Amino acid sequence: MAIIEAKKLTKIFGHDPKRAFPLLEKGWTKEKIFTETKLTVGVNQASFSIEEGQIFVIMGLSGSGKSTLVRLLNRLIEPTSGQLLFSGQDVMKMNQAELRQFRRRNIGMVFQKFALFPHRTVIQNVEYGLEIQGVEKKKRREMAMESLELVGLKGWADSYPDQLSGGMQQRVGLARGLANEPDILLMDEAFSALDPLIRKDMQDELLQLQAKMKKTIVFITHDLDEALRIGDQIAIMKDGSIAQIGSPEEILIQPANKYVERFVEDVDLSKVLTAAHAMDKAETITPDKGPRVALQFMKERGVSSLYVVDKAMKLLGLVSAEDASKAVKENLKLEDVMLREVPVTVPEALLNELFELMAGSRLPVAVTDENGRLHGVVIKGAVLAALAGNSNSALGGDTYESA
Ligand SMILES: Nc1ncnc2c1ncn2[C@@H]1O[C@H](COP(=O)(O)OP(=O)(O)O)[C@@H](O)[C@H]1O
Ligand SMILES: [Mg+2]
Repeated sequence: MAIIEAKKLTKIFGHDPKRAFPLLEKGWTKEKIFTETKLTVGVNQASFSIEEGQIFVIMGLSGSGKSTLVRLLNRLIEPTSGQLLFSGQDVMKMNQAELRQFRRRNIGMVFQKFALFPHRTVIQNVEYGLEIQGVEKKKRREMAMESLELVGLKGWADSYPDQLSGGMQQRVGLARGLANEPDILLMDEAFSALDPLIRKDMQDELLQLQAKMKKTIVFITHDLDEALRIGDQIAIMKDGSIAQIGSPEEILIQPANKYVERFVEDVDLSKVLTAAHAMDKAETITPDKGPRVALQFMKERGVSSLYVVDKAMKLLGLVSAEDASKAVKENLKLEDVMLREVPVTVPEALLNELFELMAGSRLPVAVTDENGRLHGVVIKGAVLAALAGNSNSALGGDTYESA
């Protein structure tokens, strides 16, 4: 079920903002509306829903309305019009007390400027929100410690922010955002000020945290690479409007309009597409079948090898036509002749990692999950085809840099 549902959420800045509505209706641009009326279109009729446990990325150039949109979600900015539901509850109808509860209980925020208090220790910084909520001392220390542990900084509880590197400070910011165990974490350009390598580490950590905690995260960035790396869904904004919402693959492969197309044209797909995207159905056989059946299957299905799997699709090995013929001659079982050490990868593996694995071997790569179950197979040709799906494909495409 959707945890957030926004319908035509709109924010116009300026005096008597509703004056802008008929103009938007007429199709006036943000720029024209500003020139003629001095009203600024912050967010224009944004409709979307965010599923529980999703990382929902809002991405766009500077000034496109990302921060305004995320602040509309907890009414730090009052919408000019539109509807907003949190777990089915109408956020627009909440009174001041309910709204305060909602922000404290259900929402955590992490900002670009870590906004740590220099004279408070790390743990005191993490506790800050809980303190304001009036959580009693022992309890809030406990909660803050847990949160610090999550981000790997338990040992730094009594240090001061200036004793920490930028990346560590942002982790403290993250721990603070998580301390009240919110349902939704809002992160506004949280990693944008970090050095590229540290930034990548933080992205990885966020993904790991997410896998562990299944939090709903609304993550804002102006960086396409970052959006593609961590987003389950990405909303691309332009001039306050949402230009497209989709999964990273949808955005890359089916850009909804020229604007998005231009945005994504230089993306290196091999760093975005995964084994799951390029894999084909694997032809399989169970080991109780004999080598003659194996040869027959290969002939019928037009392949020169089969993956041997048990009844639960757990991968056991690979049997080639040669191996099967040998087994027939020498009266052996499939399991006696099959190759047990076959190249495997996980569905999430990026295609550029697969290249290396494939370069050293003539065998296809089996895609298995954490339980060893076979999901599919990746062959070299399919990788190249997947990468060719975009006009400016893999070969040396620069990553997008903006604002
Ligand atoms: N308090 C405000 N008053 C007037 N205009 C604002 C205010 N906040 C933001 N804006 C304008 O709204 C638009 C969107 O801004 P913002 O949401 O901050 O963009 P982003 O976060 O994508 O950089 C911009 O044109 C900005 O100038
Ligand atoms: Mg912003």
